[in-house]
Amino acid sequence: MSWKGTAVESTTIGTIIRGDREVFPPYLYAAYRASNRRSPNLPLIEVPLTLSELTGPGPAISEVTPEDADLTRNAGTGGEAIGQRIIVTGRVLDEHGRPVPNTLVEIWQANAAGRYLHRNDHWPAPLDPNFLGIGRCLTDEHGVYRFLSIRPGAYPWRNHPNAWRPSHIHFSLFGPSLASRLITQMYFPDDPLHALDPIMNAVPEPARSRLIATYAHDVTEPEWALGYRWDIVLRGPQATPFEEPEGEVR
Ligand SMILES: [Fe+2]
Repeated sequence: MSWKGTAVESTTIGTIIRGDREVFPPYLYAAYRASNRRSPNLPLIEVPLTLSELTGPGPAISEVTPEDADLTRNAGTGGEAIGQRIIVTGRVLDEHGRPVPNTLVEIWQANAAGRYLHRNDHWPAPLDPNFLGIGRCLTDEHGVYRFLSIRPGAYPWRNHPNAWRPSHIHFSLFGPSLASRLITQMYFPDDPLHALDPIMNAVPEPARSRLIATYAHDVTEPEWALGYRWDIVLRGPQATPFEEPEGEVR
């Protein structure tokens, strides 16, 4: 897989040209420190896909339940996650603006205090026993996904002095096979940390702006939750910028 040059990644959801500098971040973005050790120094080698990569994720899709899309309650404790309740919804679209139905969308995020339930997250913010920070759903016949969650907090990371990641939600999209998985991040509007974040800034404008959700008053539910809308375009000139799947939990 490559984002360099004119490399082409062929998948069963189509052909994704990841060399498009208008959309995708470069492998190496010096201000994003981890990219210095992750970026390749040698020409990339095409690895033939195996049967297990060209098929699936069938079992994962068949096990999706409506409860999986409610991150405020899917910890199974009977309690509700603490935080500002949010609804995040949007459409998954192809390069022609056509909806992609019945595709698996998975998300993961920090809790309201900015802490992940993850063995590598040790900063002194509280964990929430009623919040796992993971959810999944399938798009409907109109390509629409929808999650109920809480707004994630910002959190520090050690990329540079006083570095904080803006509030964000990680998204994973599966096409019809494991090899067509795409990963990206959604951000919230009007966050002062956007301009300081090298992960965001590695993405060229105007594609960077496509990573920011819109506050949607028609999605907001009275006395319940704030609504955000964020469409994801899988490929083409209006594509949502995606990242390498082996990235760290950041
Ligand atoms: Fe993160």
